[in-house]
Amino acid sequence: MSEPHPRTVVVLAAGEGKRMKSALPKVLHPLLGRTLLGHVLNAADPLAAQQTMVVVGHGADQVRAHLSEIAPGATAVFQAEQLGTGHAVRIALEGAPEATGTVVVLNGDVPLLRPETVAALVAAHESEGAAATVLAAEVPDPTGLGRIVRGAAGRLEQIVEQRDATPAQLAIREINAGIYAFDAVRLRDVLGKLSTDNDQGEEYLTDVFALLVSAGEPVAVHLAADHTETLGCNDRVELAALRRLLRDRVNERWMRAGVSLLDPETTWIDVTVALDRDAVVDQNTQLRGGSVVGSEAVVGPDVTLVDTVVGAGATVLRSHAIGAEVGPGASVGPYAYLRPDARLAEKSKVGTFVEVKNSELGPGAKVPHLSYVGDATIGARANIGAATIFVNYDGVNKNRTVVGEAAFVGCDTSLIAPVEVGAGAYVAAGSAISKDVPPGALGVTRAPQRSVEGWVARKRPGTASAEAAERALRDAQGAAAATPAASEGEAIHGAAEPVGRTFGTGDTATE
Ligand code: UD1
Ligand code: MG
Repeated sequence: MSEPHPRTVVVLAAGEGKRMKSALPKVLHPLLGRTLLGHVLNAADPLAAQQTMVVVGHGADQVRAHLSEIAPGATAVFQAEQLGTGHAVRIALEGAPEATGTVVVLNGDVPLLRPETVAALVAAHESEGAAATVLAAEVPDPTGLGRIVRGAAGRLEQIVEQRDATPAQLAIREINAGIYAFDAVRLRDVLGKLSTDNDQGEEYLTDVFALLVSAGEPVAVHLAADHTETLGCNDRVELAALRRLLRDRVNERWMRAGVSLLDPETTWIDVTVALDRDAVVDQNTQLRGGSVVGSEAVVGPDVTLVDTVVGAGATVLRSHAIGAEVGPGASVGPYAYLRPDARLAEKSKVGTFVEVKNSELGPGAKVPHLSYVGDATIGARANIGAATIFVNYDGVNKNRTVVGEAAFVGCDTSLIAPVEVGAGAYVAAGSAISKDVPPGALGVTRAPQRSVEGWVARKRPGTASAEAAERALRDAQGAAAATPAASEGEAIHGAAEPVGRTFGTGDTATE
């Protein structure tokens, strides 16, 4: 079916939102992946409007900057003084003199509105040829909202604001959601006739309905099936309530799509996140921004992912990741911190108390314990021992470290960038490596070990250590006496250790 009605969308976003008590304009407050304004624009998106006008006022520069990011095609219209919703629409239309067809007006603080609901409102309006159609809802508590006042035949007569309403009108639970479709020509005509004769001395957009009715124009009410969609946001308590409602809606959608959420009440998924079938999200987990979780991946408990992609079958446990990529079958945590451009290839591992930034781990590479990996490229199947630090910063520049395929770095090593450990090379535990280690070589920088015999008895007499040492030496002497062939040890040991004891790598070598 062809589209006979050109459409113009007008979003009202000039108000301050006083009760938010915030330096941030109300419509810029975030709600599970979008700002309030972003949600409203998203709800209007399927209308394929020829133009979208956003009326800005309070915090106009901030709102404009945000608009240029999320809706560069929208036009900001500046309303210097907030003289009412009718005034706001009037100046928006002055900025669009050629607009004909349908004008869809949306309050900027109604973020739970569904695109389908807006589309249904506009479709009903256009097919009935109404001059104006308002989205209404039956709500349990209408306090503060405009009431839909119907006449004897059940037809809309007027919309009355709470503060201008009679006691009988206050009892009405059918409210104005602040979402409307208008015929552009007839709207323009009556907007010029709005009075400010009301409790707030403002031009009310809602008065358009009574004016059209008295001119004999057809007006209509479109009832929202789910009244929670029409909830506005006036303070942070309401914002928190909206967040819970949206959380439940998002979570239900993913569970119905085949994702397991083990504790939906503590799982917060931005509307912008994608999950594949059979992904599992455990409790107390936040998935934010452009994060993606692949099939059969297990994320949580206690995980925050921001703009992070987790491949199929990977696990992320009690960790925080931002701008990272976790490959298929990889394992992260518990207690890992992945920072921007941490890229973990398939079946790699970033374990406990490990921080990774701007680094690639090759397939099957492991950094299991207590390490910092910054600006590094780690080859496939390389093993990085516990407490290895990639020393990437010299106080001025960040430098890269390259660890080759299947290299083996012993525990408590500093890799001082720029430096390269070749493929299949080994680094002895406790080394500070600042020169390249060739492929297959052993890099070692340790000083030889000395043992100063009798030091504790001389320097720490009377301590528990001295007593324990004395007992151990006495027992050893007794054993030596019983075994005549036993020899006395050297006073100071300085020999190199046996090769087999050179690489302390925690428990990773056997994993
Ligand atoms: C409005 C409706 C009310 C409805 C409610 C739904 C009117 C007169 N009343 O009341 O019937 O039940 O929304 O939430 O319209 N704005 C401007 N410029 C202005 C005034 C407002 O851009 O001069 C914007 C605000 O930023 C806000 C929206 O318009 O996004 C609605 O204004 P608000 O003051 O919140 O109206 P309500 O009192 O909530
Ligand atoms: Mg409001």
